[in-house]
Amino acid sequence: MYKSDVLIIGSGIAGLTTAIQLSMINPKLKITIVSKTKTDECNTKYAQGGISAVWNHNIDDFSKHIADTLDAGDDLCNPNIVKIVVEEGPKRVQELIDWGTQFDKDNDESKYDLAREGGHSENRILHYRDLTGAEIERALIEKVKSYSNVTILEHYFAIDLLTQHHLGYNVTRIMPDIECYGAYLLDLKSLDVETHLAKLTVLATGGAGQIYRATTNPIVATGDGIAMMYRAKGWVENMEFVQFHPTSLYNLAGENPSFLISEAVRGFGGILKSKDGQEFMHKYDERLSLAPRDIVARAIDSELKARGDEYVCLDCRHLDQTEFIKHFPTIYKKCKSVGIDPFVQMIPVVPACHYLCGGIKVNEHGQTSIHRLYAGGECTSTGLHGANRLASNSLLEGAVFGERIAKHIGNQIDQVQYNELIPEWNTFGTTEPKEMVLITQSIKELKDIMSYYVGIVRSNERLKRALDRMHLLYTETEELYNRTVLSPQLCELRNLITIGYLVTRSASMRKESRGLHYTTDYPEKSKYKQNTLL
Ligand code: FAD
Ligand code: SIN
Repeated sequence: MYKSDVLIIGSGIAGLTTAIQLSMINPKLKITIVSKTKTDECNTKYAQGGISAVWNHNIDDFSKHIADTLDAGDDLCNPNIVKIVVEEGPKRVQELIDWGTQFDKDNDESKYDLAREGGHSENRILHYRDLTGAEIERALIEKVKSYSNVTILEHYFAIDLLTQHHLGYNVTRIMPDIECYGAYLLDLKSLDVETHLAKLTVLATGGAGQIYRATTNPIVATGDGIAMMYRAKGWVENMEFVQFHPTSLYNLAGENPSFLISEAVRGFGGILKSKDGQEFMHKYDERLSLAPRDIVARAIDSELKARGDEYVCLDCRHLDQTEFIKHFPTIYKKCKSVGIDPFVQMIPVVPACHYLCGGIKVNEHGQTSIHRLYAGGECTSTGLHGANRLASNSLLEGAVFGERIAKHIGNQIDQVQYNELIPEWNTFGTTEPKEMVLITQSIKELKDIMSYYVGIVRSNERLKRALDRMHLLYTETEELYNRTVLSPQLCELRNLITIGYLVTRSASMRKESRGLHYTTDYPEKSKYKQNTLL
């Protein structure tokens, strides 16, 4: 049995910021960060475009960033949270800089080079080439390692949260006093399950893009934290709002993850065209290629269906070559590696699942519906994104909530004790898995169900079909889980099915089209604003 004052599950921007801020508040706290694979393998590392913040007050102000965020969110944001994140954002970005993050500067090196992305009315995206996330993650890891009170456990897989359920109580979703005492962690090297007690626990487990066949998210993004929360009977909301990025590189080879062609390329002047070189965005939005993502992704989906094409194109042939390569070295290199010269050919692109706007319901301090349990970053629903996230607002959200969670924990921790009654993990009656194909095939089936029936455009019939098919997968997987020795693949399958169910169930509860959720059965937006709660 292991013990930490604070157990943080996840080592992306949300988890690392929480640990750093908490260590600054109280360097005596024993903090453990858990990472499913390597510390830096997470969505944060792959962020390209940048982090948004009101930076140049000559052209920009908080009210504009707030208005853009609310507009993208299609009337479902929590205005109080939007205000908090936008106003606290620049302080958190300054801290990232103070901790060693580099952002690109203008040619004369005097000011930060602020980029523009879809839905932003001003240039306010700080970035480091097209590798912003990797640069932030590098600096955060370096900073967190300077604190001796922080331990990072790599290759540890959190399986389930510890609650009264593990003490033999019947825990239900409507119970007001569920408490979290830590988590069961699967050591991926020994495959032993360790009981990790914590006074307070933080979920920072990131997104769930892997429920779809095509996603920009790395393979660790399987929605584990949200699934754990749901199993522990905590509240999860707005799961139907899955953001598809309009422009991932079309890849015939089925590469997982799909390579992202940053929205910043459109901000830089790249133009969406059909395969035969016709512009089409004017049919959908006056902001053309820089309309908010939901609009662009649906426009592409509609063009592909109408034309029977497999991809549309991003035309960069007219752009300044030296500047393009300077701003987007990774994108340029990737295109060249698959035989595309962006200055000669148009880049073939398709939408891919990119970001989950819904998740674990939290308040402005990152507190969840379960006591002693906080959550931050992409696994949460804070109210910032509403029905659609504004580009480059998620790194910001992770940094802002990391600090808020740390501050709240700093004020609580002295009053909390460990719960030593939690039993060790019981492996009695389980046997070694015989056929891995049972797991891999079920994952494929789930991805197919989600991609065909719960994609960019939905309908009652498709959603019902998805739920029916998923029910069978769920029953088979639970049966397998109860009789088999744990493996990360089996744990992920279980979580993916839970997330698939939550997205599909929430989508069928929403009887309107709003933001990222579009259904042919209810194409209009309702005048009632409601969150879907499960
Ligand atoms: P992550 O960074 O994903 O970290 C999750 C962590 O949880 C990982 O360490 C993982 O190992 C751990 N974990 C998960 N499950 C378990 C488990 N069961 N046990 C133990 N550990 C676990 N946002 C922007 O604002 N600007 C951008 O330019 C931008 N570009 C993007 C480009 C790409 C290709 C992608 C995929 C996303 C992009 N985003 C961008 C979104 C943004 O990167 C993420 O929303 C954000 O980084 C999420 O941070 P996080 O800390 O919540 O989660
Ligand atoms: C991108 O660079 O297009 C991604 C930005 C984001 O997801 O916020």
